[in-house]
Amino acid sequence: MKILVTGGNGFIGLNFIHAALKNNIHVTCIDNLCYSTKLNIDDKAHKDFIFIENDIRDKGMYEFIKKNQFDAIVNFAAETHVDKSIHSDIGFISTNVYGTHNLISICRILIDDKALPKHFKFIQISTDEVYGSLNKLDKPFTESSNLRPSNPYSASKTAADVLCISYWKTYGFPVIVTRCSNNYGPYQYPEKLIPLAFSKINKNNKVPIYGDGLQIRDWIHVDDHCEGILKVLKNGRLGEIYNFGGNSELTNIECVQKIIEVIKPNEDFENYLLFTKDRPGHDRRYAIDSTKALHQLDWQPKISFDEGIKSVIDWYSENYEWVENQINSKKFIEWEEKHY
Ligand code: DAU
Repeated sequence: MKILVTGGNGFIGLNFIHAALKNNIHVTCIDNLCYSTKLNIDDKAHKDFIFIENDIRDKGMYEFIKKNQFDAIVNFAAETHVDKSIHSDIGFISTNVYGTHNLISICRILIDDKALPKHFKFIQISTDEVYGSLNKLDKPFTESSNLRPSNPYSASKTAADVLCISYWKTYGFPVIVTRCSNNYGPYQYPEKLIPLAFSKINKNNKVPIYGDGLQIRDWIHVDDHCEGILKVLKNGRLGEIYNFGGNSELTNIECVQKIIEVIKPNEDFENYLLFTKDRPGHDRRYAIDSTKALHQLDWQPKISFDEGIKSVIDWYSENYEWVENQINSKKFIEWEEKHY
């Protein structure tokens, strides 16, 4: 199988490429390298891997996709940080909405012209944030829950998600949408809670906790998420949406506490918390019902948070230079000064 992965230099895309290559899938990756000029992909020498610097908003994608005759496209390319979207959202609308539209409209024309393989499919990596927020006692989101995004990031992802579904309904466009909960794992950029907490605690600094820190996230190890996407690629039904969740609901304080317990086991975790002003429009709770993925794809998360966080902290410790390079980059320093 020969696939195109967009945004493959980002956190989830990169982990997915590793998983795909292990499954003998030929991967071409495009990424605009907006987060890092240094390629995070160490598989350049891999015989089944090609990297091309490009942007999903490029109109030239038409010729590129036509020429390469991919069996599938997996669209990870997106601006993903909620806080950044609150400061400035134009890049989110441009990449997440316009970029996705550019890809699907090109593929639709190519399908109409019979210029793509018959079995071609487009997989849109969406997010559980499209559903908005739950209260403590609400049932987890299913694929048919209402869509109520709360911030510009999640609104842009929702627009892309429903555009894809509209293409299935209107044109029979062969699309599948996945909606996953909060990922953690190797190569996550330190603007996100878990790698940020790792870096702060390691340096004996406090971790910024928005509001009361009782917001709940359902954490999933990125390897479990990638396995789900591989199953969608092989057996997912066209026009369907699949939720993936980690069955690991934790408040932000509990999540940070667990990280402190691994890195500084003998210390009082409360000394490492710095309560700051809340994120505007902050979703209180995410929880995902993945029953459909279990029934249709035989998928369920395998890695518990306690086990996964230890291995991820080991990875960050072994790759300390990678984390610190990000933290000390001009872009990151400017972001911290502006935001915190
Ligand atoms: O649910 C899936 C989503 O998970 C993805 O669609 C997003 O792309 C991804 O960024 C993530 O969104 P969150 O906003 O939940 O992730 P983040 O790591 O930014 O924040 C996790 C929680 O921690 C959230 O309640 C905000 C809080 N937080 C975050 C940061 C960065 C803090 O309290 N302090 C912080 O400094």
